[in-house]
Amino acid sequence: MTRNLSLVIQILLLVFASQCSAKVAATLDDVTGTENLLKVTVPTVNEQFLRPAGAPRRLGIGTLPDIGSTVNDIRENIVLNENGGSVFDVTKHGAKADGETDDAQAFMTTWIAACRNTVGPAKFLIPQGTYLVGPVTFAGPCKSFPITLENQGTVKATTDISEYSSPEWFSIEDITGFILTGSGVFDGQGVTVWPYNDCKKNRFCQLLPISIKFSRLNHTIVDGLTSVNSMGFHTFVFYCYNFTATNMKIIAPHNSPNTDGMYLSTSKLVTITNSVIGTGDDCVSIGHSTENIVVTNVTCGPGHGLSVGSLGKYSKEKSVYNVLVKNCTIFNATNGARIKTWASRISGLASGIIFEDIVMYNVKNPIIIDQTYGTKKKKVSNWKISDVHFKNIRGTSTTNVAVLLECSELLPCEGVELRDINLTYGGTNLRNTTIVSSCSNAKIATFGVQNPPPCVV
Ligand SMILES: *[C@@H]1O[C@H](CO)[C@@H](O)[C@H](O)[C@H]1NC(C)=O
Ligand SMILES: *[C@@H]1O[C@H](CO)[C@@H](O)[C@H](O)[C@H]1NC(C)=O
Ligand SMILES: *[C@@H]1O[C@H](CO)[C@@H](O)[C@H](O)[C@H]1NC(C)=O
Ligand SMILES: *[C@@H]1O[C@H](CO)[C@@H](O)[C@H](O)[C@H]1NC(C)=O
Ligand SMILES: *[C@@H]1O[C@H](CO)[C@@H](O)[C@H](O)[C@H]1NC(C)=O
Ligand SMILES: *[C@@H]1O[C@H](CO)[C@@H](O)[C@H](O)[C@H]1NC(C)=O
Ligand SMILES: *[C@@H]1O[C@H](CO)[C@@H](O)[C@H](O)[C@H]1NC(C)=O
Repeated sequence: MTRNLSLVIQILLLVFASQCSAKVAATLDDVTGTENLLKVTVPTVNEQFLRPAGAPRRLGIGTLPDIGSTVNDIRENIVLNENGGSVFDVTKHGAKADGETDDAQAFMTTWIAACRNTVGPAKFLIPQGTYLVGPVTFAGPCKSFPITLENQGTVKATTDISEYSSPEWFSIEDITGFILTGSGVFDGQGVTVWPYNDCKKNRFCQLLPISIKFSRLNHTIVDGLTSVNSMGFHTFVFYCYNFTATNMKIIAPHNSPNTDGMYLSTSKLVTITNSVIGTGDDCVSIGHSTENIVVTNVTCGPGHGLSVGSLGKYSKEKSVYNVLVKNCTIFNATNGARIKTWASRISGLASGIIFEDIVMYNVKNPIIIDQTYGTKKKKVSNWKISDVHFKNIRGTSTTNVAVLLECSELLPCEGVELRDINLTYGGTNLRNTTIVSSCSNAKIATFGVQNPPPCVV
């Protein structure tokens, strides 16, 4: 029943021995959490950023240049640059760094110098200091290669959201060989704008700006990103090929709306490792049209867990293949290991998904497949889920239903493996500490320890 993993995943598996974590929060995860959206006109903003572009570019493998850099080479590379002439310091291009003047223009001027007016490796440097910065676009293609953005400062977003003509704060686009590093902080200052997020009530709501959107990038390395209090998502990886993110700290309060840590769509070969993510929504959300995604050694909590989906909201969404979530910790979270699809007519496949070596503490739904997402009425999902493995998952559930597999009546889940599941009740109702599994339309096979007892099929 187990389909072989792709070679890529196997290699990554060897390279990244891993570990992850997740956490808690309530409310509907997706911004516009109503089924009506499927029928009505999708607001422009949502459409733009949740849908793949009309004419997708091919994300081929063979044709890409090798940027010849690994995560371990980055620091060396930076040292070399500092001794050379290709460091572009924002404070030398007009940034005031007074925390009051909007330095967006200076940032963009610096970017153009670093990207277009030099060849070889270049570094865009934000030195120590506090910067107030409005929405900026760092677009390629660049003549320099690779191009590093190093943040050593505290960069704060301007909070007049009418200035954000497009819903991102930093938009990084069309680059091959982009590196983001530095121990500085990107502060979305979301606290002041979260009250304007009315997506729970208003299906036409505008999404608040994403702190950093990576679009159409090939061969990207993020090594050390600290992002706090984003207005909307912290990061969005869109149309990227070969994207590695490591040493990230992504933080927002458990009750901040739609502050997903890292949202992915329309991307291939994305690896997220050695990071701590705690937000008011999914720590990592693996959206539609994605392949070969690896999440290892991520600590997730609080939040809504490590999720595949939601899938099947918009008609152009494509399938999800080969996802490995391994060696992670999830705590104080509404969900742990989750796959969710909308109960809609949109069809697709989610296949080759492994959640392995996961520790959960205080998780409301530790193992969950939810194909009824976004509806309370009787509707069925047309999204097929198959070849899914939950292996070596232990910890505590705050509800009595620790394993919930609610699959589509039309397309039952197939090839669901539960192996060595050891969950116990960790909720507050001490009168009933029994935990159970609940399944519908799921073809499961079980191996090893099973706490709770599996559904009888
Ligand atoms: C898994 O995570 C644990 C705890 O962080 C760590 O000690 C271990 O080395 C990790 N294993 C792999 C294979 O990454
Ligand atoms: C990324 O690679 C694809 C496939 O080779 C290519 O079409 C695209 O132009 C590249 N993008 C950039 C920004 O280099
Ligand atoms: C991915 O990018 C890294 C550099 O970031 C590079 O070393 C590696 O060869 C690339 N892998 C593929 C499959 O293109
Ligand atoms: C796991 O990630 C943490 C940072 O979150 C890091 O300190 C630790 O070294 C990583 N473990 C392994 C085995 O890489
Ligand atoms: C988890 O939540 C509990 C109760 O809300 C809180 O006391 C605890 O500090 C949280 N744990 C972590 C690690 O944040
Ligand atoms: C305890 O909770 C489980 C799961 O909800 C339920 O099946 C069981 O009947 C409950 N037991 C008692 C004694 O209420
Ligand atoms: C399951 O977890 C409980 C509590 O952590 C532990 O006492 C028990 O030994 C575990 N069972 C197995 C078979 O690993």
